[in-house]
Parts: sequence; structure tokens; C-alpha cells
Amino acid sequence: MPDEKPTLVPEPLPMKSGTEFITAFYRLFRGAALYARKSVVMNRLTRECLQVVNGILQEEGNLLLRIGGNHFFFNHTRVIATADNYLLFKALGREMRKRRIGGIEFSEALDVEHLKDLIYLLFGLEENNEDNYLSVERQLEERKIEAVDVGKLELLEDEDGNSEGQKKYSKEVYFRCVGFVREVAESIRRGTSVPIRKARRLMQNAVDAVLKDDAALLGLANIKNYDEYTFNHSVNVAIYAVALGQRIGISKKHLSHLGMAGLFHDVGKTKIPEEILNKTEKLSPEESPILRAHPVIGTEILMRMNEWGELSARMMEGAFEHHLGYDLTGYPRLTQKKKIALFGRIIAVADFYDALVRPRADDRFPYVSEKIVGRMLERSGKDIDPAITKVFIHMIGIFPVGTLVLLNTNEMGIVTQAQEDPELIGRPRVCVIYYSDGEYRKEKGVDLAEMDEVSGEFKRTIVKTLDPNDYNINVAEFFI
Ligand SMILES: [Fe+2]
Ligand SMILES: [Fe+2]
Repeated sequence: MPDEKPTLVPEPLPMKSGTEFITAFYRLFRGAALYARKSVVMNRLTRECLQVVNGILQEEGNLLLRIGGNHFFFNHTRVIATADNYLLFKALGREMRKRRIGGIEFSEALDVEHLKDLIYLLFGLEENNEDNYLSVERQLEERKIEAVDVGKLELLEDEDGNSEGQKKYSKEVYFRCVGFVREVAESIRRGTSVPIRKARRLMQNAVDAVLKDDAALLGLANIKNYDEYTFNHSVNVAIYAVALGQRIGISKKHLSHLGMAGLFHDVGKTKIPEEILNKTEKLSPEESPILRAHPVIGTEILMRMNEWGELSARMMEGAFEHHLGYDLTGYPRLTQKKKIALFGRIIAVADFYDALVRPRADDRFPYVSEKIVGRMLERSGKDIDPAITKVFIHMIGIFPVGTLVLLNTNEMGIVTQAQEDPELIGRPRVCVIYYSDGEYRKEKGVDLAEMDEVSGEFKRTIVKTLDPNDYNINVAEFFI
């Protein structure tokens, strides 16, 4: 490896050996990908790693590195990545997950050749094979290497941390919710009772899906060119609200209430004429008050469903308060000042965001871009609660999921997942698109936080956002 000067950053003591091992082990692993077994670099990297391993064994008697969720545990203590080694931790985690290896344990000191055996064995494993750990164990046994053990990855995750099955489930839940909102609208128009028990069951599924994998649902919610705006809008607001509620520590039971409040926040619109609802130009002075009556109408509808106690109360908050405005300059006009409830404030932020992008509507953004975040910041403290807006922007990132971006490598890509680390908010995960003469296809997924190991610079950076319509790109394809 060319010119490798490890940066010596002082670290708190308990973390030190875990971080040291992860760093040395990852460098050795990368070495196996780049250099021949007998090369000078490989000899050096192996010796360096061995020194760390044997040092730890001497002090602690055992060395166990295990993956649990999105973290590393070193001798049963979680190792927290610092900004300096965040990417390296993430990279080793990804390599191990890919090979379905969930842990490595050293119980005795070992020599250079044995460590090399292990590292090339691990590197050579095929991807996604559940039995990889068994084949490593067998080969270690054959080579009489008793000092090392490897374990299976316990949670089935792909490199984004979510399984295909989970993604499929998220889609199913999303579209079932959309279907349900349509059903509710019909039963209200017909005057039949709303199947609220079904709604609760569905919302519990949705909350579970958000808790397991919010990226998939946020992706579906961010597709803005669905045909039936009204139905999708209610589901999107519910998803944004639940995903946000989870981040501010709302309990699971209350998340489901919050989701229901989101799902029913615009229920009053079922009584508003379609011509007004679907109008994309500015409403006339006669039409505007009709539309603006929907929070009150919605509250009345929900009041009739009062057999649900606390849930009804929460749903009414969402319906009544979501257009009041944080500074109460919205509607309905109040005769007395009141404090907007937490659910009302959350739903207002989710609603504000979802309404910002609406293709073919006059006063909205035609596609998802960083401009939306700009508008939210502009209105924060006026229309929407500033603290909640801040959490929301962290959640969706500066470039929300579904944004079409141009990279400095001249590649185009669709943002597929926001970054967990707030310092990397402008560097989401992106699916690179191959584009030529109006034709396009999905290529690999890349992480914009990834750095070039040699130059120490980011491999790819967003230059600007693009309008998918200019390139005939159907963003929905990336999430459905
Ligand atoms: Fe509304
Ligand atoms: Fe709304």
C-alpha cells in the first residue's frame, strides 16, 4: 500500500484496543485484495496486525470482534467509531456482512503464516453464502489453526442493512395503506362506517416496517409522481411522521397513534369537491375557503369515531392543527391562542414537506431537490416548528431520497439512502445510473461518504441536482 502513515489520534482507553484491532485488521483485509501473499507490503501489514492481536491477547486473554446490528462489539463492549475512523469501520462491517461473517475470535497467539491463511480465506469467500463460516472453520481445522474461530452473521442484512424480503414487505405495506385510504374516502362519501380496526392493524404493520427499515418506506413516500395524489399524500405524511417520531423517542404504541393521525389528517378532504382538490392552478377567492374548511370537517368526522378514546383525540389533533401554523397565522383562525400539540406539530412538518413537491402544480417544486430543504428552513419558526424541522431535515438529508444528482465523476445517480452520521448529511448513498441517448439503466450502489484510500479524498461528490423529466428517468423504478 503506498505511503501509509497511520494518523495517531488520542482515544479514550477502553476503546483503544478495539479500534486498533479493527484498523489493523481492515488494512490487512484490504491488503489481501491488492497484494500477493508474499509481497513486502503484505508481510508488513500482517506483522502489524499480529502485533495488535498478540498484544490484546496478552492483556485481555481473548479477542472477540462481533457485529451486532450496525455496530462492532469488541470483547462484548460496543466500539464507537470516531469521525476519523467512521468510514473504515463501516467498510470492514460491509465486507464482513457481504460474506455473512458475524464475528472473529482469537483465543491464542498465532504466527504470521496462520494470520495470512485466515485473511486470504476470508477475502476469498463468496458473497451471501450462509455457510461461509463453516467452510472457514473446516479449512482452519485442516491447517491445524486452532487459535481462531469465526461466527455466522446473525441478522440477515444486505449492505444497506436491510434484506430484500424487508423491502418487499415495506412496499406491500405502503400500497396496502394507499388502498386503505381510498377505501376510507369511499366509505365516508357513502356514509358507511370507517373500518378503523383494520386501520389500526395496518398501522401497526407500517410502524414495524418503519422501525426495521425506514429507508425503503421513505423512498416510496418520496416518489412524487403517483397518480392519486390525495391517497398517497396521506400515507406519506403518516410515514414521515412515524419515522420522525421514532427519532425523537416516541414509544411504539404512540407511534402507531401518530401514524393514524397522519393517515387521517386530511380526512376532511373527502367532503370537498374533486374539482377544487385536483386543481393545480391557484384557487379563486370563492374556492379557497371551501378547501380551507377541511381541518374542521375532518375533526367533525373523527369526532363521530369517538369510541377509540385516546386514539380519537390524537387523530383529531392531527386533523385540526396541521394547517394552524407554528405561529398560528394559518387556518382555521382561532379566537383564542393555543399551544399546538406535539402530534399536530409533527404532522404539520410532514404535511408541509410532502406538499412541497407536486409535479404539474403551479406553486410547488416539480421534483425532489435540495431546494425543498431551503424552503423548509425559510418557513421554520413561522409555518412549522423549528426543532422538529431540524430533526426532519437530518432524517431526509439535504438531498432527499429520490433526488436525481450529477456527480463530479460525470455520473448520474438517484439518492437511495440518507447518511446516519450528521456530518455526512450531503453525502448520501446513491444508485449510479448509466445514461446515454435517452436510455438508462441502474448500475451499482455507491456511498458518497467513501474516500479514496490513497488520496484521502472523497471518491464522488454531488455537483448539482437534475430534473428527472429532462432525462425521461422514472424515479419510481428505483424504489418499486
Ligand atoms: Fe391538509
Ligand atoms: Fe395534508
